[in-house]
Formats: sequence, C-alpha cells, structure tokens
Amino acid sequence: MTTDNNARRPLRLGMVGGGEGAYIGNIHRIAARQDGALQLVAGAFDVDAARGHKFAASQGLAADRSYGDYKQMLEAELKREDRVDVVAICTPNHTHFPIAKAFLEAGFDVICEKPLTTTLEDAVALDALVKQTGRFMGVTYTYSGYPMIHEAREMVSAGKLGKIRVVQVEYPLEWMATAIESEGNAQAAWRTDPKKSGRGGSIGDIGTHAYHLAGFVTGLKAQAITADLATFVEGRQLDDNAHVMIRYEGGARGLLWSSQVAIGCSNGVRLRVFGEKGSLQWFQENPNDLLFTGLLGRTELIKRGAGDLSEAAKSRTRTPPGHPEGYLEAFANLYSGFAEAINARREGRAPTAIGQNIPLAYDGLKGVAFVDAVVDSSQADGQPWLTPVAV
Ligand code: NAI
Repeated sequence: MTTDNNARRPLRLGMVGGGEGAYIGNIHRIAARQDGALQLVAGAFDVDAARGHKFAASQGLAADRSYGDYKQMLEAELKREDRVDVVAICTPNHTHFPIAKAFLEAGFDVICEKPLTTTLEDAVALDALVKQTGRFMGVTYTYSGYPMIHEAREMVSAGKLGKIRVVQVEYPLEWMATAIESEGNAQAAWRTDPKKSGRGGSIGDIGTHAYHLAGFVTGLKAQAITADLATFVEGRQLDDNAHVMIRYEGGARGLLWSSQVAIGCSNGVRLRVFGEKGSLQWFQENPNDLLFTGLLGRTELIKRGAGDLSEAAKSRTRTPPGHPEGYLEAFANLYSGFAEAINARREGRAPTAIGQNIPLAYDGLKGVAFVDAVVDSSQADGQPWLTPVAV
C-alpha cells in the first residue's frame, strides 16, 4: 500500500446500523480494520436499542459509546473531544437521508451505503449539503474498489480500446428467486417494501452497482435510457429483474441486466467493454484477472499484481500475484481511499492514488437518478427514452 496512514492516528469511526445478523455492517468493519486507517469507537447499531447495546459490547466498544439511536449518538459525540471523525451508515435505504443529513449538518464526515437515498429529491439535497458544508461523503460502490477495475479504467482512458462502442454490464443474483420476504427473511422484506427500498427493487439494490461500474470504467455519461422491469415472484411489490438499454454521450451503447431471480448466479458481476481497437472483460468471481483482446484477436490475461500495472491498481494491491485478493480487499480499498481523502483534506494536500477516483456523494446521486429514470421508463412501457441525470 502506498498510503502513509500509519504515520498518524486512525480516524475514529462511528457506525449506524450493522448490528447482530446484519449483512453489510460487518463488511464495513472488516474493511475499516484491514489497513488500520479507521478504528470503530462508537455506534447505534440496531433499530432495537437493547440489541444494539449487546452488539456494541460484543465488539468491545466502551459502554458510553454505544447509543440507542443515531440522534443520541450525534448529540453525545458532539460533546466529546475525542468525537468520531466519520460516520458509516449501514442501514436500510429509507434511513440514509435523515441520518446522513443530521451528521453532515453537525460537521461530521460520512460514508453512506447505496442507493444513497430513496428519492431523487433527497439525493439532490444531500449532494448540495455536502458541497455547502465542505464535509466528505463517500458512497460504497463496492466494485470500484477492485484494483483490476482501476486498471481497466486507466486502460480505457489511455485509449487502449479506442473509442468505446458497446458496454455490457450485469449483476445477477439468485437469492430472491422465491418469496423469501414472506418467509421471515428480514433482508428480503425491507428490500421488497417500496417504503424502505425506494422505487427500485433489483435495479436499486444491485442495478445501481452495475450502472456505477460501467460509468466508472468507461467514463461515459448516460444520455438516455429505456428500461423493462419485471416482477417474477408473485406478490412481490418491486422489480426482481431489470433490462436497461443505455445510450451514452458520443454514441456508445450499453446494456445493463440486474436480477434477483437468476438461479445459479451468485454475485456474478460482469463487465465487458468493446471499443474500436479492442475489448476488456472482467468477472467478479475471478476478480484478479482482466482480459484484453486487441484487433488481431489475441487475448491477454492481465493479472493483479503484475509489475507494469498503473499506480491506481498498485495502490490497491496488498499481495503478490497468485495470492488471491477479492471482495473484502476491494471494500477495504474503498475505506482506505475514503480515509486518505479525509486526511488529505485535513492536511491541505492532494490525496495519494488510493484516495483518488473514489465514489462520492455525486456518484450516489447519479445512481438514484438512474433508478428514477429506469422506473419511469418501464412504467411508460419502455418509452420515451429518458435522461437519468436531471441535475
Ligand atoms: P440488513 O437488514 O442486513 O441490516 C440493517 C441493519 O440496520 C440492522 O442491524 C438493523 O437493525 C439496522 N437498522 C435499521 N434501521 C436502523 C436505524 N434507524 N438506526 C440504527 N440501525 C438501524 O441490511 P443490509 O443488507 O446490511 O443493507 C444495509 C444497506 O447496505 C442497504 O442500504 C443496502 O442497499 C446496502 N448494501 C450494500 C452493499 C454493497 O455492496 N455496498 C451490499 C449489501 C447491502
């Protein structure tokens, strides 16, 4: 790693959500620990205060840093000299906005889960608040933490593929192929409730990851989209499958598929980018490899850890090639990047490579705008073509 974070104290991290049995909070904690750039010191971990306190104790937190809810946490932390520096929001979608708004307004930096908010209005307001307050807000678009995704981005921007023509991106999952939301699966229950999830089902939950990934690697801006959402599981209130066609500025075409009912596919995020001179392929089940094919048809296997990779990729690599790195390291790269960006701002300098090209509030806003346009388009039977970013 090229960050010099070890030379200073770790940033003090507070967490909202991510309690016992929750999914992503634990990944955030592992990510924060991995490079030692952040240290968890406080939290309001659960919608149930008692369960949250029990969980905080299990994490070795001081009892006076465990809070019944985020408002108590905010008030008490503000009074402390050793208050948290940054707050990670790991709660269901509908709570992101009020929690993020409260902490940003009080002067804290924030790391927020995607989708940023459940309405475009709230996403616009949060992005504006970040600009107005000067606070940092990172959004955890996990897949942009992978070193080989950064390598792909560098290759596209260096013109190795020529002008981009076609982008194919997909995020298929299988876990919601049956109505598990009515069989006691709490994670599926809030994800299929429009009040908690927002207007998108699969498109908000995982389509936003795919959309960000495609835009991140290619640098292309969506000009218009048309979409076909489907709900295959009877009684489900939101889409569990989405097909979206994207027209990018400059003429490139994109096709995005997200699905929660794709039996046999478990987190099979796949990106393929085709240009005038070559193509790139990346598959998250094999994330250490990036395939490049040139015009003559030879395919090159580019391995994570290879000596001639970009600084963007190297700075996100811990072990030599052949020792696999994966999802947890990618998430840690986001965390270390966020910490580096915060430290650089405090120290009045430019961030090192790992703190550059990280997902921020505006990327979160773009994701919410995308979901909105997809739902609108699908409700209008795929017509008209809509522009996702209306800001
Ligand atoms: P989950 O249902 O597993 O956990 C949610 C946690 O938040 C629970 O501990 C619950 O008690 C707590 N909680 C709910 N309301 C709260 C409140 N007002 N105050 C404090 N705690 C509260 O949910 P999961 O799957 O971990 O998802 C959480 C968020 O993370 C969602 O926005 C989801 O879209 C996102 N996510 C992102 C992923 C990524 O790759 N970046 C992967 C999975 C989820």
